[in-house]
Amino acid sequence: VRIYVPKDACAIACGADEVVEAIQAAALARKQPVEIIRTGSRGMLWLEPLVEVATPEGRIAYGPVEEGDVAGLFDTGFLAGGAHALRIGRPEEHPFMAKQTRLTFARCGIVDPTSYTDYVAHGGYKGLERALALGPVGIIEEVKKSGLRGRGGAGFPTAIKWKTVADARDDRKYIVCNADEGDSGTFADRMIMEGDPFELIEGMTIAGIAVGATKGYVYTRSEYPHAIAAMEKAIEVARQHGMLGINIAGSTHSFDMEVRMGAGAYVCGEETALLDSLEGGRGTVRAKPPLPAHKGLFQKPTVINNVLSLTAVPHILADGGEFYANFGMGRSRGTMPIQIAGNVKHGGLFETAFGITLGELINDIGGGTASGRPVKAAQVGGPLGAYVPTWQFDLPFDYEAFAAKDALIGHGGIVVFDESADMVKMARFAMEFCSVESCGKCTPCRIGSTRGVEVIDRIVAGERREKNLEVLKDLCQTMKLGSLCALGGFTPYPVLSALTHFPEEFGDTPRRLEAAE
Ligand code: NAI
Ligand code: SF4
Repeated sequence: VRIYVPKDACAIACGADEVVEAIQAAALARKQPVEIIRTGSRGMLWLEPLVEVATPEGRIAYGPVEEGDVAGLFDTGFLAGGAHALRIGRPEEHPFMAKQTRLTFARCGIVDPTSYTDYVAHGGYKGLERALALGPVGIIEEVKKSGLRGRGGAGFPTAIKWKTVADARDDRKYIVCNADEGDSGTFADRMIMEGDPFELIEGMTIAGIAVGATKGYVYTRSEYPHAIAAMEKAIEVARQHGMLGINIAGSTHSFDMEVRMGAGAYVCGEETALLDSLEGGRGTVRAKPPLPAHKGLFQKPTVINNVLSLTAVPHILADGGEFYANFGMGRSRGTMPIQIAGNVKHGGLFETAFGITLGELINDIGGGTASGRPVKAAQVGGPLGAYVPTWQFDLPFDYEAFAAKDALIGHGGIVVFDESADMVKMARFAMEFCSVESCGKCTPCRIGSTRGVEVIDRIVAGERREKNLEVLKDLCQTMKLGSLCALGGFTPYPVLSALTHFPEEFGDTPRRLEAAE
């Protein structure tokens, strides 16, 4: 009997490795041979570790399984998909999964991330096959048709970025994958690297062919050891199958890649600081222009794309740009892997077409707060994203709709807060975070963030409140317009949204603030 248990970092943190040992021990003791396959996660994180058993009716899931549940599961015949209090049924029929449109995450949680054969059996490398037939110009045309925009947060059209690099004349070009997933409440990059690493390899290879680059780097964080191990293993396997290296898949194209680990600075997620770090230096933001597309890694033309942009590409090539563009709304085309986190009952990875509202995501799909108290607000787009109050929950997930409300969708992370959240603390935390993570290159961010913490402290202490509120707004405006990169430039979003939507919390009752948890 085949049993599937995630090797995803979240599942491991919830005890998946211990559950595997318990299953092996129970199977041995009962002389019931089992084959355990470690997969990625399906993304229903409140059910981890989610254990699935292969039955004639398909895979039957049980979760969350603890070590102590294993004997009971064997007793009730779970090897045949038997009834048990933890039985979820077929995972794809669970409402959380059934409501999704999975393209990027179609294989995640299903395939063995170390198996090339499994990847190919589930539609892998179809995109590369078509890419090789289309050639560089045809690939970029297909990506253009899809309307794909950068999933790291900025939403810049991917085809334009690729065309810029393709048109650059140089002896060497690079593909850099930004996997330095630093936003609070985000985990999609990690999940895909752990659960379907070949998809990223395929996406980067296609990008390499499109722009004429022969070398790729995945830059990721030291906090992602499982993702690093999964990527390195898959790279090795892809090389063995001739899908990386010289003459990939028997073609005239060559492409190889490696994984590089950062030292844990939030600013290294900013593309130019990332390049400095990748070159072996301290991650400091570079002034643009020149754009990395012209002078990037080692001053050579470089495509830098987020994991989710690159992993959308194999599907765009395999199914066609028009198929992908059929999903979504307005100028936000295709699907977005949304990450639901924070104080929420059903947190996890939810991939869907753009256009779904924030309220649907948090209340219907997320099931409201885990604490059971009413939702107060959600921070969307990482620590520098705006706090969206409940009365704006009809906001559709769309780059332009969010921007119109002074908010951003960023990398698709939603962190939910209940009514006990202290919005002044949240505003102060944004400034404090910026002061800690600032690379120090420009004044509005380096000094403005520290002054921001002080001004908020004065406001809540009741010191010249009206005047200091004006100073805070003025400071935010200076940081927004005068910062060199998004770190200083976006810090005002959480501060101003807290101030705009919850002004009463910045009221005139003096108090002292403890740092936000
Ligand atoms: P940006 O708007 O300056 O650039 C977006 C991308 O387009 C960059 O790669 C840039 O080099 C490229 N680009 C711009 N004009 C181009 C042209 N004419 N030709 C070719 N390429 C061109 O935005 P930035 O500063 O790179 O990113 C800001 C975003 O990062 C924010 O929206 C924020 O949401 C997001 N972010 C994401 C994090 C994560 O963990 N994924 C963490 C922090 C911020
Ligand atoms: Fe560095 Fe902050 Fe300026 Fe960005 S905004 S360049 S992180 S000092």
